[in-house]
Amino acid sequence: ASVGARRVSSTSSVGYASRGAVACSAGKVAVLGAAGGIGQPLSMLVKMLPSVKELSLYDIQGTKGVAADLSHCNTACKVTGYVGEEELTSALEGCDLVIIPAGVPRKPGMTRDDLFNINAGIVKSLATACAEVCPNAILNIISNPVNSTVPICNEVYKAKGITGASARILGVTTLDIVRSNTFLAEECGLDVDQVDVPVIGGHAGVTILPLLSQMRPKVQLENKRIEELTTRIQNAGTEVVEAKAGAGSATLSMAYAAARFAESCLRGLQGDKVYECAYIESSLIPDLEYFASKVQLGPNGVEEVFEVGQVSDFEQQGIEGLIPELKKSIAKGQEFAKN
Ligand code: NAI
Repeated sequence: ASVGARRVSSTSSVGYASRGAVACSAGKVAVLGAAGGIGQPLSMLVKMLPSVKELSLYDIQGTKGVAADLSHCNTACKVTGYVGEEELTSALEGCDLVIIPAGVPRKPGMTRDDLFNINAGIVKSLATACAEVCPNAILNIISNPVNSTVPICNEVYKAKGITGASARILGVTTLDIVRSNTFLAEECGLDVDQVDVPVIGGHAGVTILPLLSQMRPKVQLENKRIEELTTRIQNAGTEVVEAKAGAGSATLSMAYAAARFAESCLRGLQGDKVYECAYIESSLIPDLEYFASKVQLGPNGVEEVFEVGQVSDFEQQGIEGLIPELKKSIAKGQEFAKN
């Protein structure tokens, strides 16, 4: 199957366009790490989604204030703040979707993998709580290194004997798609709403592989320009880290991207067929247990994983080049979770 003719849900409007429209069945969403740089703007965007009935904000600090503040916005969704491990179970009870941006961000000179030592433990403990309290919820994993944190979550669920969870444990790579769409629209002088670039592989350096050959609408670019744009997309996170000069990594664009992905997941839960890219456990690429692919979302999370499809020679080299790095990051996550 190919996702080709369909746009990967850039129709998603973070709900604003549909305000006042019929809100479908209500959902409860939790944000873990809600007082952070991503967590705060993301929580606000989720508060604006008409399908969210309840928003549960959890962090180890600061959530009472964020929740009090957001609760004054006159959207229908009810907001509650939970602080500290003893309140984590209450935060997660009855959740349909749990979004996890908890953990430390990069500083200049750091790779996403440098975050592993701190973030792996945070994600493992939060995933353990999700598996115990809301095992059927969809998880959106934002905490880096996503290439390893998604395998960690899967191992936690497997160890607890929860079957079918890999379709619900989704690494959020949407910022890579958002950036690709923005850069390509600028490059080609196109309406950004019409641009859709699938991005596959993983979410770090060369594992981020935009498929410019499959971009909609179809455009003609010189090979050299394709290579330069690919490199810019792969390093776009570092552009932000350097510009922030020690104050963290992408937060506003990440919140925007995560809200779009969350909205797509919620639409899927309500029975819509929605297309996105996500980093998930899959058997698409021989020898790799996880891969970011074009997927169809539905009531059970990922309903279908699409083949990579036809790619250029440059992209094929990119796929072959990313396999060893992705494999290492996957194994690192799996080993951590088992010990
Ligand atoms: P931040 O430091 O501003 O916020 C992180 C929040 O997590 C803080 O409020 C902190 O108190 C909280 N936290 C720490 N330990 C926790 C725990 N055990 N339980 C609950 N909350 C906990 O960081 P920022 O900028 O919001 O980034 C968060 C993560 O998102 C980082 O790992 C970063 O690398 C990642 N990220 C991922 C992107 C992606 O495309 N997937 C893009 C940008 C950032």
